Amino acid sequence: MGRIDTLLAAMTIEEKIGQLNMVASTLAVTGPGQLGDIHEGIRTGRIGSLLNHWGADEVHAVQRLAVEESRLGVPLLLGLDVIHGHRTIFPVPLAEACLFAPDLWEKTARAAAEEATQDGVALTFAPMLDVARDPRWGRIVEGPGEDSWVASQMAAAKTLGFQGQDLAAADSLAATAKHFCAYGAVTAGREYASVDVSERTLREIYLPPFSAAVAAGTAAVMPAFIDLAGVPMTANAPLLQGWLRRELGFEGVLISDYNAVAELMNHGVAADAVEAAALALKAGVDIDMTSDCYVRGLTEALKRGLVTMAEIDASVRRVLDLKQRLGLFDDPYRRGSAWPHGARDAERGELAREVGRRAIVLLTHRATILPLPPETQRIALIGPLAAASREMLGPWASAGRAQDAVSILEGLKAALPQCRIDHAAGVEITGEKTDGISAAVDLCAEAAIVVLCLGESAAMSGEAASRVDLGLPGRQRALAEAILGLGKPVVVALSSGRPLTLPWLFERADAVLATWFLGHEAGHAVADVLTGKFNPTGRLPVSWPRHVGQVPIFYNELPAGRPYAPGVHYSSTYLDLQPTPQFPFGHGLSYSRFALSDLRCKPTQVHPEDTIEVSLAVYNESPVLGEATLFLFARDPVASIARPLLELKGVQKAVLAPGERTEVTWRLPVKDLSFVGPNFEPVLEPGRFEIHVGQSADPSGLLSCAVELTK
Ligand code: NOJ
Repeated sequence: MGRIDTLLAAMTIEEKIGQLNMVASTLAVTGPGQLGDIHEGIRTGRIGSLLNHWGADEVHAVQRLAVEESRLGVPLLLGLDVIHGHRTIFPVPLAEACLFAPDLWEKTARAAAEEATQDGVALTFAPMLDVARDPRWGRIVEGPGEDSWVASQMAAAKTLGFQGQDLAAADSLAATAKHFCAYGAVTAGREYASVDVSERTLREIYLPPFSAAVAAGTAAVMPAFIDLAGVPMTANAPLLQGWLRRELGFEGVLISDYNAVAELMNHGVAADAVEAAALALKAGVDIDMTSDCYVRGLTEALKRGLVTMAEIDASVRRVLDLKQRLGLFDDPYRRGSAWPHGARDAERGELAREVGRRAIVLLTHRATILPLPPETQRIALIGPLAAASREMLGPWASAGRAQDAVSILEGLKAALPQCRIDHAAGVEITGEKTDGISAAVDLCAEAAIVVLCLGESAAMSGEAASRVDLGLPGRQRALAEAILGLGKPVVVALSSGRPLTLPWLFERADAVLATWFLGHEAGHAVADVLTGKFNPTGRLPVSWPRHVGQVPIFYNELPAGRPYAPGVHYSSTYLDLQPTPQFPFGHGLSYSRFALSDLRCKPTQVHPEDTIEVSLAVYNESPVLGEATLFLFARDPVASIARPLLELKGVQKAVLAPGERTEVTWRLPVKDLSFVGPNFEPVLEPGRFEIHVGQSADPSGLLSCAVELTK
């Protein structure tokens, strides 16, 4: 008998349920209700895993209780939300998505895993793979943006980065793909609200990132808080047992979200904790995070015949198997001791700065206002986000310390030691006070240029942070209007966890940079872009709306029967606004200018097993070295089911010296042109397919060619 069989045979029902019970430590608060004393529960085998408990000494102390004082000595599983860094905080995921660079996505996850495991953590609740088409939803900040293909690339890169090659290694962190699934489609963008999407949208948009995570070997998956067409995900047997386990063959652990098992009662599908526990367990949820329903309800559920011992055993087996794969039975203390602190900190700081500056998106740029000329003598740095170092960490900061974050003020001062930089906040991020505006305006009088730092606080996005107003909070608009009225050159750094609808600002400012929440190195990253030390390359992973009334908004729409045509009344538009975004998916300016030409597909007559070579010429027509990002989209213009206007199939980058020309080539397998057919099987229909390449999803900037598919 193997270790797991022996343990299972020796366990009492209480000990089995204990393995399925995850409780929250008091070191961090990430949800409602915290348990007090966890020690007794660990000693008696009633707690199998903990969340929000980290630090080598702290972890080893509780681990010792489990291993040395509990009857069977089963080690604990320690989980934490290591979302975008642990001690070194990297840009928020939405900002990282702007890189379109899986190698760097993997590197930041690796660095986070190294640091978190130093702190004894064995499991992270990441990556978050929720495709989000609605910026009212605050959790858009935690994910990959609106595109399912991008989300799938991120799923693979992050899973690999967190887990490394061998889950048992001392620096490997088990990944949890979350939140399964379609959480980003909450009704009206309202947090925790119901979701109702078609089976097609589910299969085409929301499920693929989870397939990618499973293919990359994710150790765990977390069902989302929401219900999907009336079936809460925590009890969604068809998707958890059916699609995830049976169809995809996922053998890892399913961990409920925080208190979600108990919330089955609020959803109105369980009358009590017993029914809630039974529903979740039967659906395949192995670990109950913090709701205590498994402890309170599973024994009774067994008595009532709502679950079987075999079902409980199957879950316990999966949990023990994960502990075994993490090497916890062999050496429960391997995490939290193997990595000396400090050794690689500088390197991680460099990585945070590199990823930070690559995440910045130059949204607008009038003439040659940027980069700041090196001889600039005086800058007025205005706005409530200029010196807000804590905010730079974003809504998830794990063990990252606020005092280590570099504000924009600090970054700019370090970059321009000879320049005088005057700073005034003017107003607070939120709040109604305006009495600081006139001093801020006065400060601009002698400045050559104003850098205006506006946006949201970190807490205005993330969990439980939906907004109906996507404008600037508080009195920031009043401040901005006063500054813009001075007639000085104004560059705006916009810190936020979501696109903000500010058409007036984009119209009037000389340049606007989306600077999101860039983590510890935020200030240096922003300064690198402002001074031209780094030529911006960030691209939007979301369509940026003009008005909240346009959401949900995304580039891969289906064609309308009466497509939008400017000035045509009976076309798909609004009476009071055009339907196009402020900035399209993929948008992002550079200090260089690139021209695309000569798009070719080879061959043009193709068969299902073929690979299409798509190539085009890219020319840097500016005097500045820079990096171009090219997006390859496909379209199936006539199919048995209407297909999106564009579908992203690949992204490439090319670094070009001034005046340099290069050829960029993709190898696109014809099978990538298949789609989810009428019976939800992949189909590849003969006929013509269009290939479009451009620097964003803006249709007016796309080059096009076509191939003809025959069976
Ligand atoms: C609730 C959030 O939805 C989830 O993303 C997170 O991992 C858990 N809380 C644990 O903090």
